[in-house]
Amino acid sequence: MNQSGWQLGESTAAGYERHLVPGIFAPWAERLIALTPPRPGERVLDVACGTGIVARTAARRMEDRGQIVGVDLNEEMLQVARAVSGEIRPHIEWRQGAAGELPFPDESFDLLYCQQGLQFFPNWDAALKDMNRLLAPGGRLALAVWRTIDYNPGFAAFVAALEKHAGPETALIMRSPFAVLPQDDLRQMVSRAGLTDVRMRIAVGSARFDSAGDLIDREEQSSPLAGPLGDLDAATREALRTDLEERLEPWTDDDGVILPLQSHFITARR
Ligand SMILES: C[S@@+](CC[C@H](N)C(=O)[O-])C[C@H]1O[C@@H](n2cnc3c(N)ncnc32)[C@H](O)[C@@H]1O
Repeated sequence: MNQSGWQLGESTAAGYERHLVPGIFAPWAERLIALTPPRPGERVLDVACGTGIVARTAARRMEDRGQIVGVDLNEEMLQVARAVSGEIRPHIEWRQGAAGELPFPDESFDLLYCQQGLQFFPNWDAALKDMNRLLAPGGRLALAVWRTIDYNPGFAAFVAALEKHAGPETALIMRSPFAVLPQDDLRQMVSRAGLTDVRMRIAVGSARFDSAGDLIDREEQSSPLAGPLGDLDAATREALRTDLEERLEPWTDDDGVILPLQSHFITARR
């Protein structure tokens, strides 16, 4: 379980929106929403919304009817969300709050999304119970959680290179987005929270970067790796880049590197 919560500062939150959302999180948000589309008029909550790509993608399907709220622990992420969503209708409300004790009354929402947030929460059972509490009877839940790192071998290579050149603590930051729980445990956890009709799907995708160096640069500009990577001296950074290039050779083509990505999609109903 990850306790650090994947927290970003102001410039990295803007970097997240600029570098990681278009390449990774926006296409996955489309897929999550296609699986569990919002209906016009519904009350929708995006938990651990970050800069709000799921809420913004949901809004496009709601024909300007309904209520959308995004909630996240990180005020810097929320500031970016506010800045990029002013024109969107229905209007999206952005709120600060911690998973497990979200600041809304019982049964406030018809549909709840959480894309790549669960793995960072300090108490998964409490977070899922709280999500169940927030859903109206019959309400729907759609979660996305990356599969364990064995199924995400390009990122496993990045973790290994970080471990060698930047140390285990830095490597752990890159490892933390990947679930430590296998599919059946995740399923049981969602059921334990009181949700029914739990369905698990494996979704396969990829993320492209111009090069191994580009992957390092983007993570530095957009993620909690910013501090530790920024602290590396030039020689160590160069050794990291060269090593990563070698490790990513199986996923290298004329356009750069393509990293396979696999996620769980978990849907359920209250
Ligand atoms: C990888 S980002 C995903 C953001 C967004 N869902 C997306 O798809 O772009 C993880 C988010 O989880 C948020 N987060 C981490 N721990 C949290 C907690 N305990 N409660 C609420 N949000 C949390 C972080 O602030 C961050 O915005």
